[in-house]
Amino acid sequence: MIEIPRGTLPEQTFYEQVGGEKTFRRLVHRFYQGVAGDPLLRPMYPEEDLGPAEERLVLFLMQYWGGPRTYSENRGHPRLRMRHAPFVVDRAAHDAWLRHMRDAVDELALAPELEHQLWNYMTYAAASMINTAD
Ligand code: HEM
Repeated sequence: MIEIPRGTLPEQTFYEQVGGEKTFRRLVHRFYQGVAGDPLLRPMYPEEDLGPAEERLVLFLMQYWGGPRTYSENRGHPRLRMRHAPFVVDRAAHDAWLRHMRDAVDELALAPELEHQLWNYMTYAAASMINTAD
């Protein structure tokens, strides 16, 4: 029998490659620590408790990267641009969001190839969320 080293099967999802749920929880927890102390972002979050928002982002990212589909079971189709419409996502908010996400991604210390994939997505997704003309 041919031995296939663990982690090299192409059918392994990105979710699995980075370590599954615990990795996404670490990422988003670290991200929300940044948000909690951010004078621009913190007031944008409608709820006093950031816990539920943290959970929504965790579940969304897990689903996006090939993990369990709990996000959509709870929330339906993501339609993220529409869900951000009530908030002013301008360049400054975008930059702040990405700064905290950068710190959070760095702390995961992923293999460079996985880190690039994750970071490319974050920058693309953040840019697509801007909903002001500036
Ligand atoms: C670019 C700057 C961004 C800002 C300022 C921002 C801000 C917000 C705010 C204020 C909320 C409401 C909090 C809540 O869930 O109650 C929210 C929700 C959410 N955001 Fe963002 N966001 C940004 C980018 C992104 C990006 C790039 C993603 C995905 C990669 C994302 C994913 C989500 C998700 C999944 C929710 C919860 C949606 C729901 O089910 O209601 N956001 N965001």
